[in-house]
Amino acid sequence: MTKTILIVDDDPTQRRLMQLVIEKQGFVAAHAESGEAALEALTTQGNINVILLDLVMPGIGGMKALGEIRARAPHIPVIVLTGQGGIDTVVKAMQAGAADFFVKPVSPERLAVSIRNVLKMGELQGEVVRLRKTATGALTFGDMIADAPAMRQVVRLGERAAKSNIPVLVLGESGVGKELIARAIHGASSRAGKPMITVNCGALPENLVESVLFGHEKGSFTGAVSKHMGKFREADGGTLFLDEVGDLPQDMQVKLLRALQEGEIDPVGAKRSVKVDVRIISATNRDLTEDVTKGRFREDLFYRLNVFPIDVPPLRERMEDLPELVRHFIGRFNAQEGTHITGVKGETMSLLRNFNWPGNVRQLENAIFRAVVLCEGGELEAEDFPHISGVCRQIEADEQEDALVVEQEGSKPAKAALSSAEGPVNITNRSGHIRALESIERDLIEFAIGAYSGHMSEIARRLGIGRSTLYRKVREHDLDPRASKVAE
Ligand SMILES: Nc1ncnc2c1ncn2[C@@H]1O[C@H](COP(=O)(O)OP(=O)(O)OP(=O)(O)O)[C@@H](O)[C@H]1O
Ligand SMILES: [Mg+2]
Repeated sequence: MTKTILIVDDDPTQRRLMQLVIEKQGFVAAHAESGEAALEALTTQGNINVILLDLVMPGIGGMKALGEIRARAPHIPVIVLTGQGGIDTVVKAMQAGAADFFVKPVSPERLAVSIRNVLKMGELQGEVVRLRKTATGALTFGDMIADAPAMRQVVRLGERAAKSNIPVLVLGESGVGKELIARAIHGASSRAGKPMITVNCGALPENLVESVLFGHEKGSFTGAVSKHMGKFREADGGTLFLDEVGDLPQDMQVKLLRALQEGEIDPVGAKRSVKVDVRIISATNRDLTEDVTKGRFREDLFYRLNVFPIDVPPLRERMEDLPELVRHFIGRFNAQEGTHITGVKGETMSLLRNFNWPGNVRQLENAIFRAVVLCEGGELEAEDFPHISGVCRQIEADEQEDALVVEQEGSKPAKAALSSAEGPVNITNRSGHIRALESIERDLIEFAIGAYSGHMSEIARRLGIGRSTLYRKVREHDLDPRASKVAE
């Protein structure tokens, strides 16, 4: 996840100097001693984020190498460095696509700023491309992170579905990426140039569902002041995405079935039916078969929608994708928030790996967003994920109070103990349900005993309860307050 900077210079001393600057900034340095070697590194090393390129080198030289790099890897920014700073060299290099330009000797601070800037530009461009693709419906499976075996199968099915007009039902827990998959199917289909219209069937007021879906004529009911197309006609030629289709009211299920069977709709108040050409993708996080058994969902409609089911696995069953998802979201929020987070501390990544993510990718996305905002350094740490680690970043006043407590009672500084990986208290169990208050309380007290080395008055104060209550709870939960008392 750390960024790799490729240094291209024929002078080994220069390369070493640059390496020092780069490593001091927390980046990884890679070397190439010629333009040719740089081009080779592009194919052999897949992870180069920025290139520092000397212009005057034997062989093909820097300027030619620059042209080739831009042609082969236009997404990698190139910062040009040279001994001679003639204005026409600068102009030529910038015209050839250099992101920035320095005349040697370069000040390390300025170079570091330049590297950060070009990295940020890359993230912003990525974000612009993503937003543009979402808006134009050109999002495809390549834009999804789906390398885990369980997800590759999903992508394979999605790509196959995209080749035809077959109705697809995307199934999966909340936040697994059902809508993203629907968008990718649309984006990879021949309808990509046409609109993809989304209807959230669970969020429609019951009395308006029909008009929202099928449209209405002017004056067809009170409040129908003008003619309304309806989602089916808006999606004509394209894709209609019926999200939360399991929440559709019963009477609408009948009308939807007719629309799907006949390929025509009856706008409210219209004299005749209208032909529509839409591809249907629906999604739900409910168990629709159970809804069918219980009579809540029409069986005939279920078979119409469920011609090609795609089951999206929960995040906990595809943890192989976690690091890449984390990197993806950090990049996105860096671009959005103007931050420069480079990644996640090693032990914090294990924390994220051990969490079971009941809210799936959306929960991860939100957790990273909050962490990026909370983060005070260059890498995300346990404190930046308080809901997962049970560890909070202390505010300044609290830290001063800690210092006082340490002085008065000689206890271990709370922060050091808390940030160790020894005892985050999860509020959910492995299947994602909230744990019983009593068992969370037990774990919390046990954790506090460890974190504050058994100093009961401090623990009581931190937990906001009296000392006698704490002692009673310790007895009730059968905890040993001396268990973790350190030798003082
Ligand atoms: N494989 C993935 N790669 C990159 N981003 C993803 C992936 N899966 C999901 N996301 C992102 O996670 C968020 C949630 O995805 P999405 O809205 O598609 O989930 P959903 O299953 O429709 O959720 P819900 O059930 O809550 O409607 C979105 O911001 C989406 O872009
Ligand atoms: Mg959704």
